[in-house]
Amino acid sequence: MAKYTVVSMPGDGIGNQVLPEALRVLNAVGFDAQYIHADIGWECWINDGNALPQRTIELLAKHKLGLFGAITSKPKKEADGELKPELRGKGYSYFSPIVAMRQKFNLDTCIRPCISFPGNPLNFIRKKVDGGYEEPYVNVVVFRQNTEGLYAGVEWTNPPDGMRAALATHPKFTPFAGTPGPDLAVSVRIITRNAAHKITKAGFEWAKKFGYKSVTICEKPNVLRETSGMMEEEAKKVAKEYPGIALWSTNIDAQTMWLTKNPEDYGVVVASNLFGDVISDAFAGLVGGLGFAASGNIGDEVAVFEPTHGSAPKYAELNPPIVNPMAMLLSAVMMLEHVGEMDKAKRMREAIAAVVKEGKVRTYDMMRISGGAKSISKGAASTKQMTDAILGKIEPARDTNSATRVVH
Ligand code: NAI
Ligand code: MG
Repeated sequence: MAKYTVVSMPGDGIGNQVLPEALRVLNAVGFDAQYIHADIGWECWINDGNALPQRTIELLAKHKLGLFGAITSKPKKEADGELKPELRGKGYSYFSPIVAMRQKFNLDTCIRPCISFPGNPLNFIRKKVDGGYEEPYVNVVVFRQNTEGLYAGVEWTNPPDGMRAALATHPKFTPFAGTPGPDLAVSVRIITRNAAHKITKAGFEWAKKFGYKSVTICEKPNVLRETSGMMEEEAKKVAKEYPGIALWSTNIDAQTMWLTKNPEDYGVVVASNLFGDVISDAFAGLVGGLGFAASGNIGDEVAVFEPTHGSAPKYAELNPPIVNPMAMLLSAVMMLEHVGEMDKAKRMREAIAAVVKEGKVRTYDMMRISGGAKSISKGAASTKQMTDAILGKIEPARDTNSATRVVH
């Protein structure tokens, strides 16, 4: 019997191309696991009216560890139009299976490391005032509250009467009060004190464990006084328990500007759901973009690891596949760290770092050329060739299961 069972959810599009590559590398570092396939995504929506099938939920509930590729989602009208004819008009309504999975298993802590690999041609560089360029070393880990905020899913077009009545009690609603229901859309931003506390605590714990000097709470409390205000308030409480770690507070809009000015100054960044989504993509852009952006969705019992990119439909049918598998592989590294397989995680991360540093094998995104069938003839590595190069760099196992997380 394998030591671990992992629920493998490739999903749609390039999810099916990158996830199998991760399994090859996990096997190569000696991760003792069996993988159980589970369906998720657009086909499930079309055929069953539910993008997250019950069987997948049951497998995750049982095995508690998941690797996920990517899914396709489409706006409401398109989603309804693609549902198979016999299901149409029966009240099915598309909801993102990732958001559903996060809510179902309370995967409330999303961790998104944005750490530069030396030698990555996509790393952010900055012009120096007196000439020349410099490449700041970015080592940021975003902690995104994963279940609440604007993604809680509490929203309406044409809000019901009770909701309208409640809104009408707020003086700021007056200018909207005369808007006809079908022309009025409302998405509610919900923050609970518990969740605000938990995500900041998780951020500070990470900072303490891995030696980050600051935790930045990235919100907008001057305008979103209630919800962002509560996030900041809890962060201040939590910060008192960690005297050696500075608490900084930035506004999401200003942060997106500052991150290109002095990204090396930031360590752990904590944000609510939407702002965390935004700021983690923004930081990821400094360290190679979607081909490098990994994430973990961590709950008290269940954890699911996924690249932050989507299904990239325009490349999904290419043979051979051309997309960069590293975001998926780095998500698998996070999974290894999560279960305490530190040596395997380290060997996998170091192999990725070695390939980047050597610079001989690069997928199209790392060459800054457009993707497509022609990218291979221009010298880009295919998805498989990139994984092969990484496999070639894996060092033999060391016996120590060191608790130190290695940042190349
Ligand atoms: P996307 O992330 O799928 O792709 C955007 C672009 O980024 C691609 O066209 C490609 O140029 C590049 N890219 C993405 N992954 C890459 C990789 N591994 N290597 C190299 N380049 C890569 O986002 P898009 O096009 O906005 O959405 C496509 C579909 O994916 C939509 O249906 C969307 O809803 C869904 N989506 C799903 C996500 C998820 O499963 N977590 C996240 C984002 C989008
Ligand atoms: Mg995103």
